[in-house]
Amino acid sequence: MRKNLSALCLSVLLLILCVVPASASGLPFVKPNQDIVVPLAYEALQFWERELDDPYLVAPPPLEQGVPILTVVAADVGAKDCIILQCDGEAILLDCGDTGAHNIVERVIRQMGIERFDAAINTHPHDDHLSAYPFVLSLFPADTMYVCFPEDTDCYSKYLSREMAALGIPVVQLDIDQPMRLGAATLYFRRFTKSTDINPRSLIVQAVLGERTILLTADANSSAFDNLVQSLGPDAFQGDILKAPHHGCEELAGGLIRSAQMQAIFATGYPWGDAGKDFRGQLVRIQFEAVYTVLGSVVMKTDGSKWIIAQLPREIP
Ligand SMILES: [Fe+2]
Repeated sequence: MRKNLSALCLSVLLLILCVVPASASGLPFVKPNQDIVVPLAYEALQFWERELDDPYLVAPPPLEQGVPILTVVAADVGAKDCIILQCDGEAILLDCGDTGAHNIVERVIRQMGIERFDAAINTHPHDDHLSAYPFVLSLFPADTMYVCFPEDTDCYSKYLSREMAALGIPVVQLDIDQPMRLGAATLYFRRFTKSTDINPRSLIVQAVLGERTILLTADANSSAFDNLVQSLGPDAFQGDILKAPHHGCEELAGGLIRSAQMQAIFATGYPWGDAGKDFRGQLVRIQFEAVYTVLGSVVMKTDGSKWIIAQLPREIP
């Protein structure tokens, strides 16, 4: 009887370990034996508990104090992209998700102490990357909305132009050859243009502070990366932290994995479902687990020397 009970307990334990993704534990996974990206439990960050006038930018060790900090928050908005970058009192809203989780985005932005954005940047005109802009920018205005596609590309680009006109925010074509300053940090842009589909032509953003980089890949696909890495060289795609392209729906390009040399990876998508399983299978083969924003917003901060990465409690049921 006792033997049967032990076997049953062991089976249940194994089942739990197989079913629950590692990052669901609240402890983001970082590639073993690395020290550039240091994982913190969300308790260590106390993101929500801090007062608005006591921004959580007072980062816990091991970040330097008294130097510019680049903060990147990938908000928990479902399998969609909404990424907020902040450095030296300047802020950029890179995509915005859709309207389903706009209240979460509003709370994250308020908690970061942001009142307005120096720029909003849309990586490509798809619903899951832009529909919440009108709501969010009506609360936190942006000086400029940068886009990478003609304003008549599709119904979403037309919607964005119309809504920005109503808010009095100018829509400007982004010059991808011109890096953009964000306080002490710099944003570099790349784009694959030889496709008729929209996703592969998404804007790719490499944010750099000091020696540290993060690569934000929007929905570019593996053939886009294979081509771009070949033409631009690996440095253009270095990223200590990598956003999994297209929400982690697709295989990562081999060239991108080698170029990024990432120590941590996050996906703005689900760890379950067939696409999620395929993606996780690929990560396991290269000894990774990802952090999934659908399991809680992901907060990343760097002082230019190290990153800390933490995951907040899940908000979407
Ligand atoms: Fe998308």
